Amino acid sequence: MLTPKDFRELAQSRRSTRDFTNKPIEDELLQQILNDGVTAPSWSNTRPFMVAVAKGEQRDRISQRLVARLRENLEVPGMGNSPDFTHEIPYPPGLIERSQRVGKGIYDTLGIDRADKESRFRFLERNYKFFGAPVALFFFTHRGLDHFGTLDLGLYMQTLMLSAKSHGIGTCAQGYLGNYPDIIREEFDVPKEYALVCGMSIGYPSDHPINSWQAERLPIEELTARPLR
Ligand SMILES: Cc1cc2nc3c(=O)[nH]c(=O)nc-3n(C[C@H](O)[C@H](O)[C@H](O)COP(=O)(O)O)c2cc1C
Repeated sequence: MLTPKDFRELAQSRRSTRDFTNKPIEDELLQQILNDGVTAPSWSNTRPFMVAVAKGEQRDRISQRLVARLRENLEVPGMGNSPDFTHEIPYPPGLIERSQRVGKGIYDTLGIDRADKESRFRFLERNYKFFGAPVALFFFTHRGLDHFGTLDLGLYMQTLMLSAKSHGIGTCAQGYLGNYPDIIREEFDVPKEYALVCGMSIGYPSDHPINSWQAERLPIEELTARPLR
């Protein structure tokens, strides 16, 4: 039985991995991790989400197409970018500072200057190369259940990320991987009721310094509603 200490260690040690070795994940182990995700609770047990698993040649083809689209997109802004959910939501005040701290932490660790557009673009591109991971996951939610679908998907994702971590396997949830649903839809049989939310790179972490950088963990007090009476 997992002790509270074991659980805390597992949860605390899960960190986004942004550089992977090319060591493959055995099919059986990957299947086990994906299956562990299904232990998460779900709205009326509907499991209103789907996962698509890209590895081998399919992973490489998707990556090449995503990178090519990203480049086209930069030449002609907005071209070919029609995500199922818009990502161009301006960060509300109070949240933007948190997001900027992550950006700064990553770029500082990589030694990338804010003004160095070229290097920033190359890092963005790494997202579409799955940071070198051998497997990419793409996550869809059923449009019919609205926010409950997305919520369930998040629970699924976190559970599978913890399972992966328990096997020494790293993950990075990636909103960027939700940007070009047409490319993903050409590769997998996904009913039109399901919308692409995001993706995830999964594999064995390398010893690159980016994997040692740690995003801040906000104190729970900052996230707790103050009682009014
Ligand atoms: C839905 C979602 C989308 C994310 N998208 C990206 C992404 O596109 N690229 C990236 O490098 N990290 C992405 N992240 C990782 C977050 O930046 C990371 O979880 C956060 O900074 C906290 O760090 P930690 O995961 O190491 O605890 C995403 C995380 C979530 C939950």
